[in-house]
Amino acid sequence: MSTNVSKIVEFQQENRTFAEKLIIFMKTVLSGIRPTGNLHLGNYYGAMVNFLKMQEENKCYFFIADWHSLTTHPDPKMLHVNVKNILSEYLACGLDPEKATIYIQSDIPEIAELYLLLNMQAYLGELEKTVSFKDKARQNPDNVNAGLLTYPVLMATDILVHNADYVPVGKDQEQHLEMTRNYAARFNHRYGVNYFKQPTAFVSDQKLVKIPGLDGSGKMGKSEGNAIYLIDEPKTIEKKVKSALTDNGPEGQNTPKPEYIENLFTLLHVVSTPEVVAYYDNLWNTGETKWYGNLKKQLAEDIIKATTPIRERINDIKNNDAYLHKVTTEGAEKARESARKTLREVREIMGFKAF
Ligand code: TYM
Repeated sequence: MSTNVSKIVEFQQENRTFAEKLIIFMKTVLSGIRPTGNLHLGNYYGAMVNFLKMQEENKCYFFIADWHSLTTHPDPKMLHVNVKNILSEYLACGLDPEKATIYIQSDIPEIAELYLLLNMQAYLGELEKTVSFKDKARQNPDNVNAGLLTYPVLMATDILVHNADYVPVGKDQEQHLEMTRNYAARFNHRYGVNYFKQPTAFVSDQKLVKIPGLDGSGKMGKSEGNAIYLIDEPKTIEKKVKSALTDNGPEGQNTPKPEYIENLFTLLHVVSTPEVVAYYDNLWNTGETKWYGNLKKQLAEDIIKATTPIRERINDIKNNDAYLHKVTTEGAEKARESARKTLREVREIMGFKAF
């Protein structure tokens, strides 16, 4: 049965309320973040702002990817603390358990089963060529474990277990999405079905975002040591922005910006108004010098303005264990219901039948 036909049949079935019927036609959205530290501006502007937009109009699943973080063998005591931090930060940013299903990956055992099944659609050659695998293997040659190799399969499982349409992520996850589409298509082709959808990265403003670090090159990241965190105090933010790499100023009118200056403008673009960006862009183009100090002051001020309300909420939420327990148990229940349905259908397609 095609997806549309099955949706119409589902729509007509039983005594569903009107709201339940509408949900059937909503797009499914899924995304997750690893609990390997606190959320930083890269996570926020690369992923979270889209989570917040999408929870308003879609059927959303947002989770904490704790199994994914095992590739680096986290200290068990720290794992729980980190999951709690990310969960509190999700909620402080405005993720709403009334609108989205919020859960912890390891609470959903069906993900482990689908991961096993999808591993049969993944080939060694392509896994070894994945950019994230090659980077991690180069950085940690003593810990090239199988979980690292099959990381994209686990990520594909997260997405396919709810048969998601859209996956809001930053630019660094683009290749993983492409692999997910490959596994979905391979599964469909092998079993002669049109079961898994082709999920796409959710793109706002037409492009996937890469928030740079303040150290002049590359992306902002927890392991890169160049991040501004949502929980950073204003003084810390000012200090970090002040220490960003600059030079003596433009070497003439309308010259191209070097990467480390372009990076400051990228950050300004996400936290400040278009007028502020245009003002400093204009200063650059006139070739004037000695305004970097003002730009950094403005940038720090605007980051502080954006993060302060979130930071203030984080601590309140983190101290409310009863609320965190309620969010994760209810989230796990809803996520498992959807995952169980997928597993039932996948098992049947693959020929696993009860006697
Ligand atoms: P993770 O935990 O590294 O990052 C979480 C999200 O933040 C985005 N991000 C950035 N975006 C722009 N600029 C940056 N500097 C930046 N740094 C991080 C990431 O693109 C991501 O959207 N594999 C994923 C977690 C995951 C997942 C999934 C995501 C597991 N299963 C299923 C989506 C769907 C990861 O390691 O993200």
